[in-house]
Amino acid sequence: MHTQVGIIGAGPAGLLLGHLLHLEGIDSVIVENRSRDYVIERVRAGVLEQGTVDLMIRMGVGERLRREGLPHQGLYFSFAGRRHHINLAELTGGKTITVYGQNEVVRDLIDARTATGRPLHFEVGHVTIHDMDSERSKIRFEHNGREEEITCDFIAGCDGFHGICRPSIPEGSIKHYEREYPFGWLGILAEAAPSSEELVYTYHHRGFALFSMRSPKITRLYFQVPPEEDIANWSDDAIWDEMLQRLTTRDGWQPAIGPIVQKGVTPMRSFVAEPMRYGRLFLAGDSAHIVPPTGAKGLNLAATDVMVLASGLAEYYAGRSTRLLDDYSDICLRRVWKAQRFSWWMTQTLHRFPGESEFDYRRQLADLDYITGSRAAMTSLAENYIGLPLDIQLA
Ligand code: FAD
Ligand code: DHB
Repeated sequence: MHTQVGIIGAGPAGLLLGHLLHLEGIDSVIVENRSRDYVIERVRAGVLEQGTVDLMIRMGVGERLRREGLPHQGLYFSFAGRRHHINLAELTGGKTITVYGQNEVVRDLIDARTATGRPLHFEVGHVTIHDMDSERSKIRFEHNGREEEITCDFIAGCDGFHGICRPSIPEGSIKHYEREYPFGWLGILAEAAPSSEELVYTYHHRGFALFSMRSPKITRLYFQVPPEEDIANWSDDAIWDEMLQRLTTRDGWQPAIGPIVQKGVTPMRSFVAEPMRYGRLFLAGDSAHIVPPTGAKGLNLAATDVMVLASGLAEYYAGRSTRLLDDYSDICLRRVWKAQRFSWWMTQTLHRFPGESEFDYRRQLADLDYITGSRAAMTSLAENYIGLPLDIQLA
């Protein structure tokens, strides 16, 4: 079997790339080690930048997103018992974010892929990649009990942080930058109508908490916990108790309570691999970089990576040049590092770190008071949250 681009991983990065290539008439095979249902049901991100929404609409996969996505003009920062509104749209010339679950994005993209008839194999085993520095790179895997080998012009490593692509690059050819955080997020989905139309990022003496949503009937909530926290230690009652302590404001606002239908703990880290390419292997999305979720950037960075990669591959196959492919890593990393900076800043501004003093707490409150009181500071936050532009024009 031969394909132009072999794609490992059917998360947002792999599926978006597959469809962008399809639109350019470039063939690809996508291999995914999990089942279709698992990939669709995995609860993760929820905030799409304007650029990600525009991309999906341009690709012709944004119809349900347009219908069911919840556009948000702004968000709240809450501290010392008060919510402070930040009008993202007004500060960024009318740009908005859209709340639409990552699992819905993935569902739409799987449907779009299936409709093209191009190959997407779920539940493959023992995926390995070979000869990435040659023009006939190979992907080997097991599928339906058979050993398969695909030769590829290029391989796209879209297999997330724990995938096999990045570790397949010889050690001296890639550098890793990493930072772990002394906390994680406990997240829940609750069957309760969202009690605020916009997200509420909360800094509380007991730690960070976040109010979000998935639909007019489902609330999504998170709070900061120790990094190794076992979800089994948290009964539903204990979760609501903690959530309400952190989120309730002096004016009596609090999230509506309802049955918890999903819960889990996510560790937090910042990570960048440089460069995002080795020979004919291109890393995209979480396989190349991870941000802590506070800035809501991960999925959006994955979308930008594959937009650049698809344009580079289109330019290559049109026989025009390898310029964009050659610059792929530099172009992406410039934006990735700015998103790293912003996600780190949001995280340290809104979380409590172990060992902090009361001085640190008061200083952090003053920081938030400044941010929500200064138009200059809010503008900086807004343009980063809404998504920084890519510094180059793609064809
Ligand atoms: P993934 O989604 O991880 O996809 C990789 C795929 O590769 C998976 O399907 C995996 O099963 C598959 N795979 C792995 N190994 C192999 C293998 N060996 N062979 C074949 N397939 C393999 N981002 C935002 O932008 N906004 C948010 O609001 C946000 N909130 C988040 C909240 C939480 C709780 C979490 C955990 C993440 C959040 N993120 C957010 C981050 C976002 O979910 C990720 O950045 C995004 O999933 C990256 O997409 P990806 O396709 O690169 O990787
Ligand atoms: C959600 C997740 C985030 O990481 C974030 O910053 C905002 C919202 C969410 O899942 O809705």
